[in-house]
Amino acid sequence: MKKSLSVLMAVLMVAVISVAFMGCGAKKSGQLTIGANIYNFADNFMNGVMKPELERYASEKGAKIEIVDSEGQQAKLNDQIDVFITKKVSVLAINLVDPASAKTIIGKAKKANIPLVLFNKEATEAGAMASYDKVWYVGTNSAESGIIQGEMMLADWKANPSWDKNNDGMVQYVMLKGEPGHPDAEARTKYSVQVFMDAGIKVQQLALEADPNWSTQHGNDKMATWLTSSFGKNIELVICNNDGMAFGAINALKAAGVKIPIYGVDALDQALSDIGEGTLNGTVLNDGVNQARATVDLAVNAATGKSATDGTNWSLQTDGSKAVRVPYVPVTPDNYKEFQKR
Ligand code: BGC
Ligand code: CA
Repeated sequence: MKKSLSVLMAVLMVAVISVAFMGCGAKKSGQLTIGANIYNFADNFMNGVMKPELERYASEKGAKIEIVDSEGQQAKLNDQIDVFITKKVSVLAINLVDPASAKTIIGKAKKANIPLVLFNKEATEAGAMASYDKVWYVGTNSAESGIIQGEMMLADWKANPSWDKNNDGMVQYVMLKGEPGHPDAEARTKYSVQVFMDAGIKVQQLALEADPNWSTQHGNDKMATWLTSSFGKNIELVICNNDGMAFGAINALKAAGVKIPIYGVDALDQALSDIGEGTLNGTVLNDGVNQARATVDLAVNAATGKSATDGTNWSLQTDGSKAVRVPYVPVTPDNYKEFQKR
């Protein structure tokens, strides 16, 4: 009896020790670890495009990545960073919740001497990027997406005189805007219509509603409300800062049995099939796959003490933004099939 008890004890001890080892053991000795987040897992583009590629590509590069959900709360992200720092990750890859809160996060990384790659939401505070030599940004040139969307809407508007329902030579539009203060949302909202004005075509905004979560629900609710409002019949164009919101607006249009030209940004798979079906007029590829790869490439280089873009195809802007900017591409009924093959 005594003997079997001590055998049992020994077995238990081994079990306890191996469990303890597994706890920290997920990190093989010398393996590079990336502490990452997504500002909100509910976001179609971030969760559907960027997150899977961050995971796939990090593993291809032999790095271990942990991606947490900040649930749209900057305070939550601040805590998550503290946890990553305590865990001694090799490098941080961070999707800001509030683009005006970058300095707090950069300060934390600097104090812990951990390199930091910000991605998707560019810091808006002046001097933030200059405050630490080991911080970089991976994203896009925000204005480019608005300009491309505007150019494609302008070309279609010119080719379809019947879109000017009231024949006043002016574009009566509604705008589904993303997060206020987000550089992508601000630039898309501005430049998409600026293109018309620059071409000498007047525009009239009938309504604009912003959503910090860029959500389909928001697109659906706002579009449904607008359609039944006093100006509902006058809407000639629906401009969406992203496809996620466009999907909602398309549902509302279908439910009301009306067809109004509508455009998005991102080129999500669903958007490509919507273009094929003719329910979406165009979108702009936001190349999340390459943004994810650049994020991992920079993170791995920084963590191993190399220069950020060493041995990669990415180049850093020399304007003080310390940014890699992945180009946007127009996606129309003429070329959408090329993107389905990707
Ligand atoms: C994307 C949006 C997304 C946002 C999140 C933008 O670049 O186009 O779909 O919601 O990033 O920050
Ligand atoms: Ca008009």
